[in-house]
Amino acid sequence: MELKQAIEKRSSIRVYKQDPVPLEDLKEMVRLGSLAPSVANYQPWKFVIVTDRKLMRDMAAKVARKIEDIPANESRVAKNVKSQVEWFATFFQDAPAIIAVAMEQYESVLEKGVVIDHDEINRQRNYPDFQSAGACIQNMLLAAVDMDYGACWLSAPMMAKEALSKMLGLEEKYKLVAFVAVGRPDRIPQKKQARDIDEMVKVIG
Ligand SMILES: Cc1cc2nc3c(=O)[nH]c(=O)nc-3n(C[C@H](O)[C@H](O)[C@H](O)COP(=O)(O)O)c2cc1C
Repeated sequence: MELKQAIEKRSSIRVYKQDPVPLEDLKEMVRLGSLAPSVANYQPWKFVIVTDRKLMRDMAAKVARKIEDIPANESRVAKNVKSQVEWFATFFQDAPAIIAVAMEQYESVLEKGVVIDHDEINRQRNYPDFQSAGACIQNMLLAAVDMDYGACWLSAPMMAKEALSKMLGLEEKYKLVAFVAVGRPDRIPQKKQARDIDEMVKVIG
């Protein structure tokens, strides 16, 4: 598939056929993800591929409980909002596979020679660690399209990231960033309205 075609075809797929996704295909998505650019070429990522249904359900239950435990405000929509977000944060439990993306801390060249610490440099640089992980995840989503899978990027489950990291057996040095749910699409959502190019772009020069 042409890259342009994959970019135009990609959309977030949240409902999947139950066919298992072969491990080689999941690893190929990870391989292509890992070719993304990263800050200082640190390639900070670590991936956990999960197809164990029980683990996925247990993780989703943790996420749901976390959302339920957040005190609601007084608004009329409070209850609806919570159950809607809960679904968007837990549907991964019905996906044939998820790929958890985590990253370790990079060392910037600057922190070797200045008095400000890593976290402050990272903040001032606009979180290049998360930017790197984002590039990697987008590569994985496009790889999934190219291989005729559907995928969805999920950050909402990260509300329970401490518990999820433990359940995934992640070493402490890795920070969980997002999940990518993967499977053969069973429902393709309506394509979203593309924004007008001239409304998005300012040209100088
Ligand atoms: C950083 C990020 C986090 C996201 N987290 C979630 C999520 O937790 N749950 C979900 O269902 N979709 C999530 N999405 C998918 C977006 O909702 C989706 O990309 C957006 O609605 C546009 O639709 P499209 O992907 O079909 O173009 C996330 C996307 C991004 C980029």
